[in-house]
Amino acid sequence: MIRQVLQLGDPVLRTVAPDVKNLHQAGVGLDILLQDMIETMRATGGVGIAAPQIGVSLRVFVIEVRDEDRYRGAKPYPLTIAINPKLKLVGPLLQSWEGCLSVRGLRGRLPRNSEAVISFLDADLEPRELHLTGFPAIVAQHETDHLEGMVYLDRMPDLSTLCFEEHYHANVVSLNDEAIGEPSV
Ligand code: NI
Repeated sequence: MIRQVLQLGDPVLRTVAPDVKNLHQAGVGLDILLQDMIETMRATGGVGIAAPQIGVSLRVFVIEVRDEDRYRGAKPYPLTIAINPKLKLVGPLLQSWEGCLSVRGLRGRLPRNSEAVISFLDADLEPRELHLTGFPAIVAQHETDHLEGMVYLDRMPDLSTLCFEEHYHANVVSLNDEAIGEPSV
């Protein structure tokens, strides 16, 4: 089921989410929660979504980069479900232009690590580890922030690059060689 995406101002987005400890913790069950997150991410054109964004304060996110025009410059990345993720940041810092489904209509630039090693439980609660580079690594950092009650605005060194999407699409990519994607996560 496609769920409503909470917008900045909802206290759930500013709450540190607890670990998933059992399959029933999500109220409706973990399988339904994951399915709703995937459907909502796809319906809204996002490349990732965290459970708090649909009002469930638990450490779960999903990532998927599809071959769509709005993500020009970003290679497709397969659907990845991460439960209780732990992130280790590696690689140099990049300038990342980001948006967020919970901060509708805006984009801004902030530093992110170019790589991340993520350990997590998959949908079968089996432990996994992935070494992400580039765009998926940035999306994983963005989604992990949501689990800490943070949004990308908190990581902007200042607000001078904050702009509406129309301006971003019209100007920013051509003005800035460091743009490495245009997530709407
Ligand atoms: Ni977001």
